[in-house]
Amino acid sequence: MKEKLDLTKIPRHIAIIMDGNGRWAKKKGAMRIFGHRHAIQAVKDAIEGADNLGVKYLTLFSFSTENWSRPQDEVKALMELLVKTIIDEISLMMKNNIRLEVIGDIESLPKSAYEKLMEARKVTAANTGLTVILALSYSGQWEITQATKRIAQKISEGKLKPEDITQQTFADHLDTAGIPDPELMIRTSGEYRISNFLLWQLAYTELYFTPVLWPDFRTEHLYAAVEDYQKRERRFGKTGEQVNL
Ligand code: IPE
Ligand code: IPE
Ligand code: MG
Repeated sequence: MKEKLDLTKIPRHIAIIMDGNGRWAKKKGAMRIFGHRHAIQAVKDAIEGADNLGVKYLTLFSFSTENWSRPQDEVKALMELLVKTIIDEISLMMKNNIRLEVIGDIESLPKSAYEKLMEARKVTAANTGLTVILALSYSGQWEITQATKRIAQKISEGKLKPEDITQQTFADHLDTAGIPDPELMIRTSGEYRISNFLLWQLAYTELYFTPVLWPDFRTEHLYAAVEDYQKRERRFGKTGEQVNL
């Protein structure tokens, strides 16, 4: 699969909406959490695949602002799974030179999850390979609201003038400040929606939808998405003739 790819045209940043754990479990007659547990192997495969291709940033939508309204035992189990996975995977992240980052309202997470995330972030901070960004208690509208508050605060303190606000100013106040926008966004499980993921950052991202349920996702599925991406013509509002000059 990897042989089919043009290694000079690998996206720098891939974002994934990892969806379908519940339906995967249901098909097997199991509880939803069974699907979440099996999602971990898919996460590891996505990271390994992205790393193999030389992708620089991989953003994984792991828990949305809206997911807080799921049954409390599912939320609790997801948070415990998060803590366990970070503990289990930290040595592999170090071995593979992977840096962990987080976006979202992480202070709203249970203390144990918050602390483990902070620790993993600190321990991996100097790694120079793939940056894995976990979107946790994250939504695009939440992030845009946060950025607006940060900007308003600076204006009220006299540190910024309204007329000086540019698109770049705005991007610099998002949780993703300094991270290039994703070139490719993948959503699994056959749903065709964004579900409040990176609303600002996806402005010109190529979208790829696959019916594969997240726990079944493997490196070959990532390579297939990149292959599809490489066939597309990214025009950014220009004409096909202009971009093919
Ligand atoms: C994605 O799988 C994981 C999270 C949103 C945490 P789901 O749990 O949404 O699975 P489905 O969509 O119900 O199948
Ligand atoms: C999106 O999946 C959020 C994550 C993958 C973490 P959802 O399952 O929550 O999305 P909807 O509700 O089907 O739009
Ligand atoms: Mg879902």
